[in-house]
Amino acid sequence: MAVTLAKPDIAARCQAVRAKSEALATPLASQEGIIHTLPDLLRPAAAGVPLGELAGRVVDVSGLCVTVAGLAAFTAVGDHIRIRTLDGRDILAEIIAFRQKQALAMSYEAIEGIGAGCPVFFALYGKGQRQQAPSAGLAVNESWIGRVVDPMGTPLDGKGALLPSSHRQKRRAIPPNAAERARLGPRIDLGIKAMNLFTTCREGQRLGLFAGSGVGKSTLMGMLARETACDVAVISLVGERGREVREFLEDDLGPEGLAKSVLVIATSDSSALMRREAAYSAMAVAEYFRDQGKSVLFLMDSVTRFCQALREIGLSAGEVPATRGYPPSVFATLPRLLERAGPGTPQGERDAGQMTAIFSVLVEGDDQNEPVADTVRGILDGHIVLERAIAESGRYPAMNILRSLSRAVPGCNSEQENALTTQARRILAQWEDVRDLVRLGAYKPGNDVETDQAVQIGPQLERFLTQKKTERVSLEESFAGLAGILLAEESYDEERAL
Ligand SMILES: Nc1ncnc2c1ncn2[C@@H]1O[C@H](COP(=O)(O)OP(=O)(O)OP(=O)(O)O)[C@@H](O)[C@H]1O
Ligand SMILES: [Mg+2]
Repeated sequence: MAVTLAKPDIAARCQAVRAKSEALATPLASQEGIIHTLPDLLRPAAAGVPLGELAGRVVDVSGLCVTVAGLAAFTAVGDHIRIRTLDGRDILAEIIAFRQKQALAMSYEAIEGIGAGCPVFFALYGKGQRQQAPSAGLAVNESWIGRVVDPMGTPLDGKGALLPSSHRQKRRAIPPNAAERARLGPRIDLGIKAMNLFTTCREGQRLGLFAGSGVGKSTLMGMLARETACDVAVISLVGERGREVREFLEDDLGPEGLAKSVLVIATSDSSALMRREAAYSAMAVAEYFRDQGKSVLFLMDSVTRFCQALREIGLSAGEVPATRGYPPSVFATLPRLLERAGPGTPQGERDAGQMTAIFSVLVEGDDQNEPVADTVRGILDGHIVLERAIAESGRYPAMNILRSLSRAVPGCNSEQENALTTQARRILAQWEDVRDLVRLGAYKPGNDVETDQAVQIGPQLERFLTQKKTERVSLEESFAGLAGILLAEESYDEERAL
């Protein structure tokens, strides 16, 4: 093992400050409302310079896992290392486990070019400085709004560099203390009729969006990011196909949605570590804005792909597969991520910010009892179910009203509003029962008043719940529209009775 101590780090500091100044000279420096002071620029250079570099060596490469000797005494799980390939490239990797004093690492990139004997480097930080290591935190600031970044915080949108920051937002923060955490805020206007009415959501609430592939998740996520009444939307796209990212940005989100969003993206071809980090980094960005007292909307598509990345990592580290191939650590890690969303804690004089979160879950073969779906459903404060049959009938968003629920309802709606949604649910349930009979022409009206009413109003409600991609319907408009349909029918019934 060799330890190279850094020379008096003045040269390194000067270089870091020069790099920051160059970054500032890019067009982004002119972004409005961002003021940087000299100490702000100097601090990251002073704090972020490692003590020296530790060198080890690759002794084994197997599957996606690289075994490294010579680093065990100074490194921990989660530390980032650099592996120098045979063609001289440096590949970023992360230590995922230790076995008999050797570190097991996975790479953030493809492992081509790594062989036994390749040198490995680890930047050594002082005890109190480990949080300053790039692996521990993200240098997030206001300049991230409107930008698309990868999980390491590197811009992907070709709009130039992000502004530097001395602040490091922890990627692995622990959820706020339950006793100090603020309570849920007032109801939040999601801009989508079906959700505003039947899964009314409060600021700081966490909902799951359960759906199969191609049922309209991305479109709905884009609509939510655009239309929800929030200060900032943070969107994490984990394991999406590369083609879809551009479509999501241009068609679903649009320039209007992007202007108030931060997107953290790892496509399906990226490594398991990158895909996992897309969730952690996005959560850190959302926490940063929440801790400023903002109302943040956090959208993640999808938790399932995050769990699949955890599964790849766990199995490479030697864990045993348990439920449907997922090792037990997946189900221990998942709540720690999901619990971070929600209300924040008051910061001094400032009120707590709120993080309203919607996590999409892929239900393969529309199997609602799949283990990830089951765990997520148990942790979150409500769920929205999108169904293929509804999408096929042309009703978008394809939300099954009867199977979706928000646990904050009825507490956040007025009595009159609760009465309206209960009545609508009852009608939709009855309509569901007789729909096939009506289609076959086998339904005979006149036997039951309530069923007749469902046959009359059910289709009207379904038409009403259909919403175009570009349409915004506020909370008030949603309830007014529902009242219009249900009350018109009541007065019609009364007239008929006279
Ligand atoms: N509100 C809407 N109005 C009209 N069409 C819609 C709406 N929402 C979704 N669609 C249609 O449904 C199709 C699938 O939508 P989308 O790509 O959002 O699904 P997805 O669940 O994200 O799919 P995947 O699992 O492949 O990522 C799209 O072609 C889109 O045209
Ligand atoms: Mg999609």
